[in-house]
Amino acid sequence: MYRMDCVKVDTLVTGEIDCADFGRKLFENKDKPAIINVNIGTTVKGAVDDLDLVIETLEKLGFENRFYIHCDGALFGLMMPFVKLAPKVSFKKPIGSVSVSGHKFVGCPMPCGVQITRLKHIKALASNVEYLASRDATIMGSRNGHAPIFLWYTLNRKGYRGFQKEVQKCLRNAHYLKGRLKDAGISAMLNELSSTVVFERPKDEEFVRRWQLACEGNISHVVVMPSVTINKLDSFLNELVEKRVTWYPEGICQSPCIAEDVGQENCLCSLHRL
Ligand SMILES: Cc1ncc(COP(=O)(O)O)c(C=O)c1O
Repeated sequence: MYRMDCVKVDTLVTGEIDCADFGRKLFENKDKPAIINVNIGTTVKGAVDDLDLVIETLEKLGFENRFYIHCDGALFGLMMPFVKLAPKVSFKKPIGSVSVSGHKFVGCPMPCGVQITRLKHIKALASNVEYLASRDATIMGSRNGHAPIFLWYTLNRKGYRGFQKEVQKCLRNAHYLKGRLKDAGISAMLNELSSTVVFERPKDEEFVRRWQLACEGNISHVVVMPSVTINKLDSFLNELVEKRVTWYPEGICQSPCIAEDVGQENCLCSLHRL
C-alpha cells in the first residue's frame, strides 16, 4: 500500500526473528528509518519474537528515534497475558502499535480485530466525521458495528478467569499432542509459549484434506484452540498413526528428516533420533 521497500529478515529454527541477521539488514539500510513488524505468535510455528532484543538491536545500530514497531498479536496477543513467565508487550516500551484478531482466540463469528496505537498517530490520521459525531481512522471509512459488540460480549461473558482457564487448557492440550506425536515416532515441535504444534507433513493429501491441515513445505501444524478437546486430539492421533503405516513401503515408517524446520532435537529421523 505504501510502496515502500520491504526487507525480509531471516528467522531462527523456532520461527523467531534472527536478530543477528536483523542487525546486518539494519546496517545495510542505515540511511533510512525502519518500520518493523514484530510477531507475537507467527502463523505457522507460533513463534514469539524477542521484542526487547529487537529494540536493543535497533538502538545498538543507531536507530534510536528512527523506528516504528508494530506488534502483530493476531492469535497469540490475546493468549500471552495469561501465560506465566511470558514477556510483556507494553506501551512502556517504544512500540507504535499492537493488533489482535477478534475471530481467532476470542472466536467472533466474523473477521474483526483491535488495533491499539498511540494517540499522536490517531490524531495524525483520523478525521472528524460530522454526521457520525466521531473520529474515523479506518482506511475505508467504514467499519462493522456488530464486531465490537461480539468482542465486548465474549470478553465479559468469559471474564479474565475464563480466558486464563482456556489459555491454560490450550497449552496443556498442545503439550499432550506434542508428547503423543513424539511417542509415536513423529517429529514434532512446540514453541515454549505457544499452543501451535508443528509436525511432519502427512504424506497423504486425503488425510490432510479430511483434517483441514495447514501445510508449508515439509511441515504441518495444529493450532490447539479451546474447541480442541483431548478426545478430538486422540481421534486425530489414532487415525494418523493407523494411516501412517500405509504410506510407507511394507508398513515400515521412516520418519523424514525435518531438522531444518523443527531443529535437530525435535527431529525423529533415523539420523537425529539417536
Ligand atoms: C501472525 C498473523 N498475523 C496476521 C494474521 C491475519 O489476521 P487477520 O485475519 O485478523 O487479518 C494472521 C492470521 O493467520 C496471523 O497468523
